[in-house]
Amino acid sequence: MKISVCGKGGSGKSTIVTLLANEARARGYHVLVVDSDESNSGLFHMLGFDHPPVPLMELVGGKKDLKQKMAQTNVLREARIVTAQIPEEHLLQRDGLMLVSIGKILQSLEGCACPMGVLSREFLKKLTLRDDELVVVDMEAGVEHFGRGVDTSIDSVLVVVEPPLESVNVGQKIHELASGIGIKNVWAVLNKVPSEEIATRLKAELERRHIEVVGCIHSDVNIFNSSMEGKIPVSGAAVWEIKGVVDSILSRAGMPTPG
Ligand SMILES: Nc1ncnc2c1ncn2[C@@H]1O[C@H](COP(=O)(O)OP(=O)(O)O)[C@@H](O)[C@H]1O
Ligand SMILES: [Mg+2]
Repeated sequence: MKISVCGKGGSGKSTIVTLLANEARARGYHVLVVDSDESNSGLFHMLGFDHPPVPLMELVGGKKDLKQKMAQTNVLREARIVTAQIPEEHLLQRDGLMLVSIGKILQSLEGCACPMGVLSREFLKKLTLRDDELVVVDMEAGVEHFGRGVDTSIDSVLVVVEPPLESVNVGQKIHELASGIGIKNVWAVLNKVPSEEIATRLKAELERRHIEVVGCIHSDVNIFNSSMEGKIPVSGAAVWEIKGVVDSILSRAGMPTPG
Protein backbone atom coordinates (compact mmCIF):
# COMPACT_ATOMS: atom_id res chain seq x y z
CA MET A 1 0.00 0.00 0.00
CA LYS A 2 1.27 3.46 -0.92
CA ILE A 3 -0.38 6.24 1.04
CA SER A 4 0.36 9.93 0.63
CA VAL A 5 -0.20 12.43 3.40
CA CYS A 6 -1.33 15.75 1.93
CA GLY A 7 -2.72 19.06 3.10
CA LYS A 8 -2.02 22.69 3.70
CA GLY A 9 1.44 23.84 4.82
CA GLY A 10 1.77 23.57 8.60
CA SER A 11 -1.37 21.44 8.99
CA GLY A 12 0.71 18.66 10.50
CA LYS A 13 1.63 16.38 7.56
CA SER A 14 5.10 15.50 8.82
CA THR A 15 3.76 14.99 12.34
CA ILE A 16 1.02 12.63 11.09
CA VAL A 17 3.51 10.82 8.80
CA THR A 18 5.79 10.16 11.77
CA LEU A 19 3.00 9.07 14.13
CA LEU A 20 1.58 6.82 11.41
CA ALA A 21 4.95 5.31 10.50
CA ASN A 22 5.78 4.57 14.14
CA GLU A 23 2.39 2.94 14.74
CA ALA A 24 2.51 0.84 11.55
CA ARG A 25 6.04 -0.23 12.46
CA ALA A 26 4.87 -1.25 15.96
CA ARG A 27 2.28 -3.50 14.25
CA GLY A 28 5.00 -5.31 12.32
CA TYR A 29 4.90 -3.58 8.94
CA HIS A 30 8.08 -2.50 7.24
CA VAL A 31 7.50 1.17 6.63
CA LEU A 32 9.22 3.26 4.01
CA VAL A 33 8.73 6.99 4.49
CA VAL A 34 9.29 8.95 1.30
CA ASP A 35 10.09 12.58 1.95
CA SER A 36 8.64 14.29 -1.07
CA ASP A 37 8.44 17.76 0.43
CA GLU A 38 11.48 19.73 -0.66
CA SER A 39 10.88 22.24 2.11
CA ASN A 40 10.92 19.69 4.99
CA SER A 41 14.29 19.84 6.68
CA GLY A 42 13.75 17.94 9.93
CA LEU A 43 11.74 14.83 9.03
CA PHE A 44 14.75 12.53 9.53
CA HIS A 45 15.08 13.81 13.08
CA MET A 46 11.38 13.34 13.82
CA LEU A 47 11.75 9.73 12.66
CA GLY A 48 14.67 9.15 15.01
CA PHE A 49 17.60 9.31 12.56
CA ASP A 50 20.60 11.47 13.35
CA HIS A 51 21.32 12.53 9.77
CA PRO A 52 19.23 12.87 6.63
CA PRO A 53 19.50 10.37 3.76
CA VAL A 54 21.36 11.52 0.67
CA PRO A 55 18.51 12.68 -1.57
CA LEU A 56 17.69 10.45 -4.54
CA MET A 57 18.12 13.60 -6.60
CA GLU A 58 21.89 13.14 -6.09
CA LEU A 59 21.73 9.80 -7.92
CA VAL A 60 20.83 11.78 -10.97
CA GLY A 61 23.45 14.41 -10.24
CA GLY A 62 21.27 16.98 -8.54
CA LYS A 63 18.86 19.21 -10.35
CA LYS A 64 21.38 20.69 -12.77
CA ASP A 65 22.36 17.40 -14.41
CA LEU A 66 19.01 15.64 -14.13
CA LYS A 67 18.41 15.27 -17.84
CA GLN A 68 21.88 13.89 -18.72
CA LYS A 69 22.13 11.60 -15.68
CA MET A 70 18.66 10.06 -16.15
CA ALA A 71 20.22 8.36 -19.17
CA GLN A 72 22.97 6.67 -17.08
CA THR A 73 22.75 3.44 -15.13
CA ASN A 74 21.52 3.57 -11.55
CA VAL A 75 18.69 2.09 -9.50
CA LEU A 76 16.29 4.74 -10.77
CA ARG A 77 16.74 3.41 -14.31
CA GLU A 78 15.36 -0.02 -13.36
CA ALA A 79 11.83 -0.86 -14.49
CA ARG A 80 10.97 -1.94 -10.93
CA ILE A 81 12.58 -0.76 -7.72
CA VAL A 82 12.51 -2.79 -4.50
CA THR A 83 13.69 -1.29 -1.21
CA ALA A 84 16.62 -3.77 -0.98
CA GLN A 85 18.12 -2.30 -4.17
CA ILE A 86 18.29 1.28 -2.93
CA PRO A 87 21.90 2.19 -1.99
CA GLU A 88 22.28 2.53 1.77
CA GLU A 89 23.33 6.18 1.79
CA HIS A 90 19.98 6.96 0.17
CA LEU A 91 17.88 4.63 2.36
CA LEU A 92 18.20 5.09 6.11
CA GLN A 93 16.98 2.13 8.16
CA ARG A 94 16.30 1.44 11.81
CA ASP A 95 14.15 -1.39 13.16
CA GLY A 96 12.10 -1.80 10.01
CA LEU A 97 11.59 1.93 9.54
CA MET A 98 13.11 3.31 6.34
CA LEU A 99 13.48 6.82 4.98
CA VAL A 100 14.32 8.15 1.53
CA SER A 101 14.28 11.74 0.43
CA ILE A 102 13.63 12.97 -3.07
CA GLY A 103 15.50 16.27 -2.86
CA LYS A 104 15.78 19.55 -1.04
CA ILE A 105 15.95 23.14 -2.08
CA LEU A 106 18.81 24.45 0.00
CA GLN A 107 19.77 27.63 -1.78
CA SER A 108 17.88 30.56 -3.13
CA LEU A 109 17.64 30.88 -6.91
CA GLU A 110 18.10 27.10 -7.23
CA GLY A 111 15.11 26.94 -9.53
CA CYS A 112 11.68 25.43 -9.09
CA ALA A 113 10.89 22.02 -7.66
CA CYS A 114 9.45 20.55 -10.89
CA PRO A 115 12.34 18.09 -11.54
CA MET A 116 11.81 16.72 -8.04
CA GLY A 117 8.15 16.19 -8.87
CA VAL A 118 9.21 14.14 -11.90
CA LEU A 119 11.61 12.09 -9.78
CA SER A 120 8.99 11.51 -7.06
CA ARG A 121 6.48 10.38 -9.66
CA GLU A 122 8.87 7.97 -11.39
CA PHE A 123 10.27 6.60 -8.14
CA LEU A 124 6.83 5.96 -6.64
CA LYS A 125 5.61 4.39 -9.87
CA LYS A 126 8.53 1.93 -10.05
CA LEU A 127 8.61 1.13 -6.35
CA THR A 128 7.36 -2.46 -5.93
CA LEU A 129 6.34 -3.52 -2.44
CA ARG A 130 6.22 -6.76 -0.50
CA ASP A 131 2.94 -7.55 1.30
CA ASP A 132 4.34 -6.40 4.62
CA GLU A 133 5.70 -3.13 3.27
CA LEU A 134 3.89 0.15 3.56
CA VAL A 135 4.93 3.39 1.91
CA VAL A 136 4.00 6.68 3.56
CA VAL A 137 4.71 9.75 1.44
CA ASP A 138 5.20 13.09 3.14
CA MET A 139 3.86 15.18 0.29
CA GLU A 140 4.62 18.81 -0.43
CA ALA A 141 2.00 21.29 0.80
CA GLY A 142 -0.98 22.20 -1.33
CA VAL A 143 -2.10 20.62 -4.60
CA GLU A 144 0.63 21.24 -7.17
CA HIS A 145 1.91 17.66 -6.88
CA PHE A 146 -1.32 16.50 -8.55
CA GLY A 147 -0.47 18.69 -11.54
CA ARG A 148 2.95 17.03 -11.73
CA GLY A 149 1.44 13.55 -11.58
CA VAL A 150 3.31 12.62 -8.38
CA ASP A 151 0.20 10.84 -7.08
CA THR A 152 -0.50 8.65 -10.11
CA SER A 153 0.77 5.45 -8.45
CA ILE A 154 -0.55 6.21 -4.97
CA ASP A 155 -3.46 4.05 -3.84
CA SER A 156 -4.63 6.04 -0.84
CA VAL A 157 -4.55 9.71 0.12
CA LEU A 158 -4.81 10.96 3.67
CA VAL A 159 -5.61 14.67 3.88
CA VAL A 160 -4.64 16.44 7.08
CA VAL A 161 -7.28 19.01 8.01
CA GLU A 162 -6.82 21.53 10.80
CA PRO A 163 -9.49 23.87 12.17
CA PRO A 164 -9.53 26.90 9.84
CA LEU A 165 -12.03 26.43 7.03
CA GLU A 166 -9.25 27.17 4.51
CA SER A 167 -7.81 23.77 5.38
CA VAL A 168 -11.20 22.13 4.66
CA ASN A 169 -11.22 23.82 1.25
CA VAL A 170 -7.73 22.50 0.48
CA GLY A 171 -8.99 19.09 1.58
CA GLN A 172 -11.90 19.35 -0.81
CA LYS A 173 -9.60 20.32 -3.69
CA ILE A 174 -7.30 17.38 -2.91
CA HIS A 175 -10.30 15.06 -2.79
CA GLU A 176 -11.47 16.26 -6.21
CA LEU A 177 -8.02 15.99 -7.79
CA ALA A 178 -7.29 12.57 -6.29
CA SER A 179 -10.70 11.22 -7.31
CA GLY A 180 -10.12 12.70 -10.77
CA ILE A 181 -7.05 10.50 -11.28
CA GLY A 182 -8.91 7.44 -10.06
CA ILE A 183 -7.75 7.24 -6.44
CA LYS A 184 -10.69 5.69 -4.56
CA ASN A 185 -9.32 5.88 -1.05
CA VAL A 186 -9.29 9.52 -0.04
CA TRP A 187 -9.73 10.11 3.67
CA ALA A 188 -9.30 13.03 6.02
CA VAL A 189 -7.72 13.10 9.45
CA LEU A 190 -8.48 16.05 11.70
CA ASN A 191 -5.45 17.55 13.42
CA LYS A 192 -4.80 20.20 16.09
CA VAL A 193 -8.43 19.96 17.17
CA PRO A 194 -9.04 22.06 20.30
CA SER A 195 -12.50 20.76 21.34
CA GLU A 196 -15.20 18.20 20.60
CA GLU A 197 -17.43 20.96 19.27
CA ILE A 198 -14.82 21.93 16.65
CA ALA A 199 -14.25 18.24 15.82
CA THR A 200 -17.97 17.79 15.17
CA ARG A 201 -18.16 20.91 13.01
CA LEU A 202 -15.09 19.99 10.95
CA LYS A 203 -16.38 16.46 10.47
CA ALA A 204 -19.76 17.77 9.31
CA GLU A 205 -18.09 20.19 6.84
CA LEU A 206 -15.97 17.38 5.39
CA GLU A 207 -18.81 14.89 5.19
CA ARG A 208 -20.96 17.50 3.47
CA ARG A 209 -18.20 17.48 0.83
CA HIS A 210 -18.28 13.64 0.74
CA ILE A 211 -14.91 13.26 2.44
CA GLU A 212 -14.73 10.45 4.95
CA VAL A 213 -13.02 11.28 8.25
CA VAL A 214 -10.89 8.43 9.64
CA GLY A 215 -9.80 10.01 12.89
CA CYS A 216 -9.04 13.01 15.00
CA ILE A 217 -5.78 14.12 16.63
CA HIS A 218 -6.37 16.78 19.24
CA SER A 219 -4.20 19.77 19.76
CA ASP A 220 -1.48 18.33 21.97
CA VAL A 221 1.01 20.49 23.81
CA ASN A 222 3.43 17.53 23.94
CA ILE A 223 3.63 17.50 20.15
CA PHE A 224 4.33 21.19 20.08
CA ASN A 225 6.94 20.98 22.85
CA SER A 226 8.69 17.99 21.25
CA SER A 227 8.73 19.80 17.92
CA MET A 228 10.88 22.51 19.50
CA GLU A 229 13.56 19.78 19.74
CA GLY A 230 12.69 18.41 16.31
CA LYS A 231 11.08 15.30 17.81
CA ILE A 232 7.71 13.57 18.02
CA PRO A 233 6.39 12.19 21.33
CA VAL A 234 6.49 8.41 21.68
CA SER A 235 3.63 8.35 24.19
CA GLY A 236 0.63 10.48 25.12
CA ALA A 237 -2.73 11.39 23.59
CA ALA A 238 -1.68 11.69 19.93
CA VAL A 239 0.09 8.32 20.02
CA TRP A 240 -3.18 6.78 21.24
CA GLU A 241 -5.32 8.68 18.77
CA ILE A 242 -3.23 7.62 15.78
CA LYS A 243 -3.99 3.96 16.59
CA GLY A 244 -7.62 4.52 15.63
CA VAL A 245 -6.53 6.24 12.41
CA VAL A 246 -4.25 3.31 11.52
CA ASP A 247 -7.03 0.79 12.31
CA SER A 248 -9.42 2.64 9.98
CA ILE A 249 -6.90 3.00 7.16
CA LEU A 250 -5.66 -0.59 7.22
CA SER A 251 -9.14 -2.08 7.34
CA ARG A 252 -10.52 0.22 4.63
CA ALA A 253 -7.53 -0.52 2.40
CA GLY A 254 -7.79 -4.26 3.12
CA MET A 255 -4.11 -4.39 4.03
CA PRO A 256 -3.06 -7.88 5.26
CA THR A 257 -1.67 -8.14 8.81
CA PRO A 258 2.06 -8.94 8.70
CA GLY A 259 2.70 -12.66 9.29
N1 LIG B 1 -1.86 17.76 17.02
C1 LIG B 1 -0.96 18.75 17.20
N2 LIG B 1 -0.95 19.47 18.36
C2 LIG B 1 -0.07 20.48 18.55
N3 LIG B 1 0.85 20.88 17.64
C3 LIG B 1 0.88 20.21 16.45
C4 LIG B 1 -0.01 19.12 16.17
N4 LIG B 1 0.28 18.66 14.93
C5 LIG B 1 1.29 19.41 14.47
N5 LIG B 1 1.66 20.34 15.38
C6 LIG B 1 2.70 21.38 15.24
O1 LIG B 1 2.40 22.18 14.08
C7 LIG B 1 3.61 22.54 13.42
C8 LIG B 1 3.53 22.09 11.96
O2 LIG B 1 3.50 20.67 11.92
P1 LIG B 1 4.20 19.86 10.73
O3 LIG B 1 3.95 18.41 10.98
O4 LIG B 1 5.61 20.29 10.55
O5 LIG B 1 3.32 20.39 9.51
P2 LIG B 1 3.54 20.24 7.92
O6 LIG B 1 4.44 19.05 7.70
O7 LIG B 1 2.16 20.04 7.38
O8 LIG B 1 4.15 21.51 7.46
C9 LIG B 1 4.75 21.89 14.21
O9 LIG B 1 5.27 22.82 15.12
C10 LIG B 1 4.06 20.77 14.95
O10 LIG B 1 4.72 20.41 16.15
MG1 LIG C 1 6.31 18.87 6.73
